[in-house]
Amino acid sequence: MASQVLVAANRGPLSYAHAPDGTLSARRGGGGLVSGLSAALAEQPDAVWICAALSEGDREAVRRGVSEPGVRMLDIDPAVYDAAYNGIANSVLWFTHHHLYDIPREPVFDAEFRRRWDAYVLYNRAFADALAAEAGQGAAVLVQDYQLALVPGMLRVLRPDLRIAHFTHTPWASPDVLRMLPRYVVEELTWGMLGADLLGFHTGEWARAFLSAMPFDGAEGSAEEVREGIVEHRRESVWARRTTEVRAFPLGVDGDDLRALAHRPEVDDKLAGLRAEVGDRKTIVRVDRTELSKNILRGLLAYRELLMTHPEWRERVVHMASAYPSRQDLAVYREYTAAVRELAAQINAELGTADWQPVLVSVEDDFARSLAAYRMADVALVNPVRDGMNLVAKEIPVVSEAGCALVLSTGAGAYEELRSDALTVNPYDVSETAAALHAALAMPDAERAERTKRLSSAATALPPTSWFTAQLTTLQSP
Ligand code: G6P
Repeated sequence: MASQVLVAANRGPLSYAHAPDGTLSARRGGGGLVSGLSAALAEQPDAVWICAALSEGDREAVRRGVSEPGVRMLDIDPAVYDAAYNGIANSVLWFTHHHLYDIPREPVFDAEFRRRWDAYVLYNRAFADALAAEAGQGAAVLVQDYQLALVPGMLRVLRPDLRIAHFTHTPWASPDVLRMLPRYVVEELTWGMLGADLLGFHTGEWARAFLSAMPFDGAEGSAEEVREGIVEHRRESVWARRTTEVRAFPLGVDGDDLRALAHRPEVDDKLAGLRAEVGDRKTIVRVDRTELSKNILRGLLAYRELLMTHPEWRERVVHMASAYPSRQDLAVYREYTAAVRELAAQINAELGTADWQPVLVSVEDDFARSLAAYRMADVALVNPVRDGMNLVAKEIPVVSEAGCALVLSTGAGAYEELRSDALTVNPYDVSETAAALHAALAMPDAERAERTKRLSSAATALPPTSWFTAQLTTLQSP
């Protein structure tokens, strides 16, 4: 049966792996996009999620016809997939939107780049074709993120009857950085995105960046208004004589769901283990993918500076850093992961004592351990250089048992909503971050409790279900 609500995202809600007995078992996918969308779609029983087959297990599931209700995996030629996902989406678009280039050497746009770009076009085309085939008349299609930026334009040509939204979970590059991309790339991205009726971003800042960075040939007029506290940006664009609405939908967390998840017996067990290791010391907690934009190295440097400038905290605090593996097919991510481990080991060697290890690093994908760490957090450290939203900044205050002080960088999308109750820092300024860590550790209990309460209420203002429904309603009521 043709579907009336469809979601398209590179990563699906689950991934298949071979069990030792040869059967395929499904496990939950990772990343902020997946957790937000999975929660929202639980309330949309008829929705279909189209995603790429990412692992060998996924590809075999497609071949054997194994599937879960509401999930369709696309088996894309592995060479095309690799060039599109690693070669363009993660090496170029991600780097552009997060301003991650090492400018004297990068980026380089040559014939090899062009070959990869062609693969990105094919990969987007596979999604557009699948959506066109699955969507019912007038259906709502919600396309996710930078991996699929061309899909709205492609789908518009195939199926003019559809209502199409695109949501960007990353920041949007500033005009200067975007202009580094080849001109044909910027034109195709503009064309692709403006195929949508609705373009969503996590913050007003990223929506504004999109509006100021893209060349809207033939676009007419623009207006800004504030509605219900959300800055809304509109720009009329002449693309098949339609209007594209650009606005912010700041994704939040579902407090009840998250607290329930954090109190499962599995998490209690991890908590007992961590408590035994940390004792009654204070904790500074961070949880990230091993991702360049998360700024984990400067976070560790700030912690070292804290221990140097405020030796009174030695032996009295532990920095618990979970950095679970991500994008390890790219050499620069493998190097970054190694550098994180190395710096943590150095700090432990330099400052640790017989019964105190200053940093506890966990480089594994262990969600239960992360939730246990959230519960123990006295201080949460979230210092990305640039980040679409950063849900960890919203999750920790909701789950922490004693209330936590949040050290938050101006680069996080969450800064827009949480700034007044966080200790805010410039992500490049290690000394400022060290001083904020000290202030966070020294914050009086009553003040910390008050701030945590307000942070939690801001964090849960637009939980995934409402975030999704808000987009769907806007999309379905032109
Ligand atoms: C970010 C991106 C998502 C992506 C996730 C995990 O949240 O916005 O699109 O799925 O990171 O990254 P990965 O490359 O592992 O899917």
